[in-house]
Amino acid sequence: MRRTLKELTPISIYSARFAFVCLIIVLAISLLGPCTKYAQLNQRRLRVGFAQIANEGPWRDTNTESIKTEARRRNVDLKFLESDNPALKGGEQQSGQKEALRSFIKERVDVIAFSPVVETGWDDVLNEAKEAGIPVILSDRGVSETDESLIATFIGSDFVEEGRRAGRWLVDEFEDTQGTVNVIEVEGTRDSAPAMQRHRGFCEILSRPEYQDRLRVVAWVLGNFNYDQAKAAMRAFLANNDHQPISAVFAHSDAMAFAAIAALEEAGFKPGTEIKVVSVDATDKGCNEIKKGRLNCAVECKPRLGPALFDAAQAAAKSMALPERIIISEGVYDKSNVDKCGNE
Ligand code: AHR
Repeated sequence: MRRTLKELTPISIYSARFAFVCLIIVLAISLLGPCTKYAQLNQRRLRVGFAQIANEGPWRDTNTESIKTEARRRNVDLKFLESDNPALKGGEQQSGQKEALRSFIKERVDVIAFSPVVETGWDDVLNEAKEAGIPVILSDRGVSETDESLIATFIGSDFVEEGRRAGRWLVDEFEDTQGTVNVIEVEGTRDSAPAMQRHRGFCEILSRPEYQDRLRVVAWVLGNFNYDQAKAAMRAFLANNDHQPISAVFAHSDAMAFAAIAALEEAGFKPGTEIKVVSVDATDKGCNEIKKGRLNCAVECKPRLGPALFDAAQAAAKSMALPERIIISEGVYDKSNVDKCGNE
């Protein structure tokens, strides 16, 4: 039964007032306390700072486009900074990326994400982000820092497995070949996660006891994930290679495989038939090259990380627990399944 204020006894008036005061206190605590940030977050746009690597080719184009499109779709306030000089080799881009990260810390964004150009040397800036209470997500490339508290999560590919897949494809392809097959490895940026890990996975397969002496890498050509640099390095190698016949090329990316194909053709070789070419990425252009018969195999590395990235960013901004690694599942394409190839 409802009672009016007049009907309340002094004791019940006292308890009603007490309850009201308690309610106000609880509300005030919840607004001032640790939930304040989340309450505010629900009312305003999520602010994410992303530091991208310089654009080295079609893979990075698609990756950037995916991040920007997904931010727009979710109405995220994205501050996107990218190194503007793809000619800067590997570590030379690191100071620019650190500057970008520091600017995000200064702006007090909710979440920082970046694709580290190299694996090491990020401790200082990652600790600064931690001190500022800003979660950091690694997108596409990882770092070798072991302090897990510095990173909210990593989203991207299993680069070691990509290298293994390339190795397995070549081992199968040359199964019936007599003698040792000579391979050239066209390497991505020195000290970068994809270059180091793809190399590791590739070597792991080639050096398995059951495959020993089947294939051997006779030269490493440094292409820095860049078409022009890979082509110049491959040309220089071919001009000086008067010693051993080459039967295969493993390029750490599509862009560098296209460069190797062009350099091989210039030197009078027939890539795809006379010399087998395997790459990583499976961009649309890579898939077309398989159809044309100049590229034999493309191990997939998916660039469309935007949706997974902002799922993680929204969770990280609310301090929700995330898995240490979020690995994207990928395939391997050659002429047998090229109709399914293409991830852009
Ligand atoms: O980090 C991913 C790699 O970087 C892609 O394989 C390559 O194309 C890009 O340069």
